[in-house]
Amino acid sequence: MPIDAGAHGATNGNRILRFFVNINPDRDRVWGTKGSFRSLFERYDALSTAARGKGNRITVDKNFADRCFSGLVKSLSKLYPLAKVFDSSPYDRAMRRIHNYMKESLDFREDQREYREIRYPPFSAWSMFTDGISHPVVSGQYALITTAIIPLAFIVAEPRQRQQGSSSPRQGRLAIQFMLHQSASHSVVVATGS
Ligand SMILES: [Fe+2]
Repeated sequence: MPIDAGAHGATNGNRILRFFVNINPDRDRVWGTKGSFRSLFERYDALSTAARGKGNRITVDKNFADRCFSGLVKSLSKLYPLAKVFDSSPYDRAMRRIHNYMKESLDFREDQREYREIRYPPFSAWSMFTDGISHPVVSGQYALITTAIIPLAFIVAEPRQRQQGSSSPRQGRLAIQFMLHQSASHSVVVATGS
């Protein structure tokens, strides 16, 4: 029952926003979930243990070696754009370890507290920050999926603006333009499995 992590190169803490359309004319697409990343992280100590890996604390800042590696990948991706999927960061590795723990731990998988299902009928569409919620597909077949990486700055700025009682239409517009650009530059994939 994992969250998305590590399949898009390095997000460096930026968010994974995915758009889905159930194109099966007859069958619902059903997701199971045990809740948001935050609530899971609070409920299961094992997630922070997984995030730490071999270290004694959770590291999200890049060190010198990480920065060199990312620089190398960035240069390579000018020649071969697909090379950017090889990029990595401490944040992405920690999230990947959490993802793997959720997928592989029997204790975690068999604990059905808070489990519930969400049904998406034929031809319905939805979007979700898939790094922020556990969401395995329980059943369904044929869905269109596209992915946008949304800079964290666009997301964390909003509550602060709300607190200050001011809004920033320009920033909102920028976020939407960025999302559309990102969506257009990613291919739409068809999920055929159930
Ligand atoms: Fe996923």
